Amino acid sequence: MKAIVITVSTKGYAGEREDKSGPVLKQRLESIGFEVPEIVLLPDCREKISDVMLQIADKKEAGLIVTTGGTGFAKDDCTPEATLDVVERRADGIPEAMRAYSSQFTDRAMLSRAVAGIRKETVIINLPGSVKAVEECMDCVENSLVHGIEILTGQAVECGGS
Ligand code: MTE
Repeated sequence: MKAIVITVSTKGYAGEREDKSGPVLKQRLESIGFEVPEIVLLPDCREKISDVMLQIADKKEAGLIVTTGGTGFAKDDCTPEATLDVVERRADGIPEAMRAYSSQFTDRAMLSRAVAGIRKETVIINLPGSVKAVEECMDCVENSLVHGIEILTGQAVECGGS
């Protein structure tokens, strides 16, 4: 199963800041069995982000897109809006679980407006931008995420209780 990482950072895109979260996210996804051919670096531009997501999902380039960054309260943060422009079905349980889990580490977990959803056979999930947040959120979602994708793609049909 292929996964594509999208790092959303205007400064990263302009070469003014090193993308540290994208590589960590790639490594975390590879550690649970995904092939991650690409880290796409994008600015905080709603249209650009949704265009890239649309192309990946509609051309079946990957079964999973995970974004990092652009989920907060800054005026240009628009990753959740770009994601909602694209998804056909929301998967609110994923960001709900991430925020609940993350609140044991920081009260500021509530400031991430991350969303998740499904377009065709591609699951799209937003994570916050810091390496710390990527690690914590992946700890929370990785097991159930794999099961969800297996259900979506017909590789698993039963939930088996756990
Ligand atoms: N979630 C976890 N697990 N760990 C964190 O350190 N940082 C929070 C929040 N979620 C954080 C977290 C902070 S400080 C912000 S401002 C928001 O995510 C939004 O981050 P973003 O704008 O980089 O997406």
